[in-house]
Amino acid sequence: MVTGPAPLSLSDLAACLQLDQQALGGLWTESQWRTELQEASRPGVGLWQGEALVAMACGWLILDELHITVVAVDPQWRRLGLGQQVLAALLAEARGRAASRATLEVATGNGAARGLYARFGFRDAGIRRGYYRSGEDALIQWLDLRT
Ligand SMILES: CC(C)(COP(=O)(O)OP(=O)(O)OC[C@H]1O[C@@H](n2cnc3c(N)ncnc32)[C@H](O)[C@@H]1OP(=O)(O)O)[C@@H](O)C(=O)NCCC(=O)NCCS
Repeated sequence: MVTGPAPLSLSDLAACLQLDQQALGGLWTESQWRTELQEASRPGVGLWQGEALVAMACGWLILDELHITVVAVDPQWRRLGLGQQVLAALLAEARGRAASRATLEVATGNGAARGLYARFGFRDAGIRRGYYRSGEDALIQWLDLRT
């Protein structure tokens, strides 16, 4: 049974590192994760299967904007609605903290993530050419949180 969504804290450091490796190939180092989990302006939420973190979403609150930095689901737990659940929880947390807009970057070829974000109503607002190490472009997307 999956439990949560629950706020992520420093005690979840090892679980975040592990899911980061499994789902994102190691986006952040241990010290970067420490900072993410300690800063009050960087909310994160997770879904758990027992002791294992199976989905997480994190962001930075900058004035009234939520900058989404991580959305990740354990490969074995995909296409079960967990990405949608954890992202909804992060957006709800941001709304509760007076954010009015959310933004993110997504690789043009990441069909799964683009499909997920489209469901929430994220709209393309620009493109960063060659943004990723692979040379792939990033789409900049925004969502109005007030409607
Ligand atoms: C993107 C990701 C978080 C989606 O998580 P998920 O739990 O599988 O997503 P959900 O089951 O909640 O899917 C919600 C909707 O997103 C879309 N979607 C999800 N995976 C998809 C896929 N592989 N292809 C097309 N659409 C997809 C669908 O519209 C889906 O609804 P449906 O299943 O009813 O058709 C997951 O694939 C992941 O962790 N990918 C690697 C990390 C990553 O790319 N993160 C985003 C960086 S910007």
